[in-house]
Amino acid sequence: MNPADVASWISDAQSAFTAATDLEQLKSARLAHAGDKSPIALASRALGTLSADQKASVGKIIGEAKAEIAKALAQQTAKLEQERDSRVLLEEIVDITLPVRRAHRGGLHPISIIKNEISDFFIEQGFSVEEGPELESGWLNFDALNIPADHPARTMQDTFFIEPIESGLVLRTHTSPVQIRTMLAQEPPIYVICPGRTFRADELDATHSPVFHQVEGLVVDKGITMAHLKGTLDNFARHMFGPDVTTRLRPSFFPFTEPSAEVDIFFNNRWIEWGGCGMVNPKVLATCGIDTDVYTGFAFGMGLERTLMVRHGITDMHDIVEGDLRFTRQFGVGL
Ligand code: DAH
Repeated sequence: MNPADVASWISDAQSAFTAATDLEQLKSARLAHAGDKSPIALASRALGTLSADQKASVGKIIGEAKAEIAKALAQQTAKLEQERDSRVLLEEIVDITLPVRRAHRGGLHPISIIKNEISDFFIEQGFSVEEGPELESGWLNFDALNIPADHPARTMQDTFFIEPIESGLVLRTHTSPVQIRTMLAQEPPIYVICPGRTFRADELDATHSPVFHQVEGLVVDKGITMAHLKGTLDNFARHMFGPDVTTRLRPSFFPFTEPSAEVDIFFNNRWIEWGGCGMVNPKVLATCGIDTDVYTGFAFGMGLERTLMVRHGITDMHDIVEGDLRFTRQFGVGL
C-alpha cells in the first residue's frame, strides 16, 4: 500500500466533504469516502492479510488517515447543521408585530335570538317548551284542529304536500299541531309554548317566506277565561315591544278557537296585527280526550319573522332569510 494513495484518500474525502452544500450531499460523500466500501475501509480490512510488522506501520498510517477523514466529516457536519438550523429559524420566523387576523365569533341568527327570548320569558312563568315535527300528518295539521277538508288553507296553493299524496303527510303550515300533540300526550293543567319552523307555498317577497317561524301558546286548566288570555298577551307584548305597548283583541275566526280574535299591538303610533288567538274550541279539546265540562283553554300563535320585523323596523323579509352577516351582526352575537 502506497502512503501517497492514503494521502489522496484523505484529500479526496476532505474536498468531497467541503463540496457538500447540504446534509444530504454530505451523507453521500461520507458513504463514498468513509463508508464500508470506501478505499480507506477496504485498506483497513486488508490489514489482516499483512505480516505483523507491516501491520503495525500500515495500521498506524491508516488509523491516522481515518482520524483525519473523521475530523473533516465532523467539521463539515457541524457547519452544515448550523446552516440548516439558521435557515429553519429564518423560514419559520413569526412576525409578532403583524396585526392580528381576527377570527369571527359565531353568532345566533336573530330568529334564534327572539325564539330564545320568548322561550325564556314563558319558562319563567312555568310554561314548558314543546317542539313537534316539521313533517306532520295532515290529521294533526288540519283535522284535529277542526279545519275541514274543504278549508282554503288545505289547498295546493298554501300547503306543501308530501308525495306520495296517500302518505297524508304535509310540511306543517303552522305550529298549532303541536297543541294537539301536547293535549294527546299530557293531562291538564297544560301550560306550553311551541316555537318552530313552518312552511307555506308562498313566494319569497318583502313580507312572505315559504319557510318561516311561529310560536304557539296553549293553556288548558280549570277556570281559564279570555281574561287570562288577554293578560298573558299583554305581558308577552310588553316583554317583546317595551312597557308602553298596548294590545287589542279584534274579533276574528279560526276553526280551532271559539271565540277567536286577532291580537293587535299599538306600536310606533299605529295598530299592527301581531297574531291570532282565542279560547280553544271545545271540539278540539274533545278530540284530544279532554273533559270540556272541567277544563277550558286559550291559545295564541304569531310569526317570529313578523315580530322581529315590527320590533326592529325591518322592511324586507329577504334580510331575515338571506343570512348576510352585515344584517345578523346588528343583533349582536349571542354566543
Ligand atoms: N295557526 C294560526 C295561523 O297559522 C295562528 C293561530 C291563531 C294560532 C289562533 C292559535 C290561535 O293558537 O289560537 O295562522
